[in-house]
Amino acid sequence: MEIIIQPSAEAATSVAARIIAKLLRAKPAAVLGLATGSTPLLLYRGLIAMKLDWRKVTTFNLDEYVGLPPEHEQSYHSFMWENLFRHVNIAKKNVHIPDGMSRNIATFCTQYEAKIRSAGGIDLQVLGIGTDGHIGFNEPTSSLSSRTRLKTLTRQTHRDNARFFGSADKVPHHVITMGLGTILEAREIILLAFGAKKARAIAATVEGPLSAINPASVLQWHPQVKVCLDAAAAKKLKRADYYHWVYANKPDWQQY
Ligand code: F6R
Repeated sequence: MEIIIQPSAEAATSVAARIIAKLLRAKPAAVLGLATGSTPLLLYRGLIAMKLDWRKVTTFNLDEYVGLPPEHEQSYHSFMWENLFRHVNIAKKNVHIPDGMSRNIATFCTQYEAKIRSAGGIDLQVLGIGTDGHIGFNEPTSSLSSRTRLKTLTRQTHRDNARFFGSADKVPHHVITMGLGTILEAREIILLAFGAKKARAIAATVEGPLSAINPASVLQWHPQVKVCLDAAAAKKLKRADYYHWVYANKPDWQQY
């Protein structure tokens, strides 16, 4: 894992945006895995401002609430179109977001996995992290080799996401999410985390044991993970000095 600690969320995001821009310039038909929530908002704003060419890009979103139609203002369909897709020249047919209204979720999930495979797999997956260590909506005790499937949100995630819905009783209990095994197949992963409330989960992910109780710790298995943090999210890392030292001494060819 490469741990990149920056003074602010803006600075950490701009490292991530540069890595993604470099990929899209080198591989115009890249396949991106995308996240929603408050964390990637700055990233999407930054990518829009870079005026990249998205014509050949394919995207797969991590997750969607079950029971929310795409036009619902809190659906991840709405989120993605509002915050990224409608501002770039992506082809609608290349956008994939789990269908929360699917009548046969198990079949839908199998087909979603097949679509990722037939697109050639995900080149770069963007992740946020929940306060309980979830990535996608793989809640604690998710199988480390899980695939796209239905999950039930924990009470904590349910509470955390009430801020988007106005009240907790409006937050759906179920979601469709890519599995941890699905995420691990991405060729490269960028995990973003900002703010003190993510510090515990980040310390457990980077320096804790690999364990299903902290699902993001599975990223320790992956050979190409960059963790982009602001100072507050990095606060509980015991080896922060070393991560700063590594970043400050990167060879030129490794700069972003
Ligand atoms: C959303 C997702 C989740 C969020 C996580 C953090 O697509 O995959 O794992 O990244 O819940 O959410 P925020 O960014 O709102 O703190």
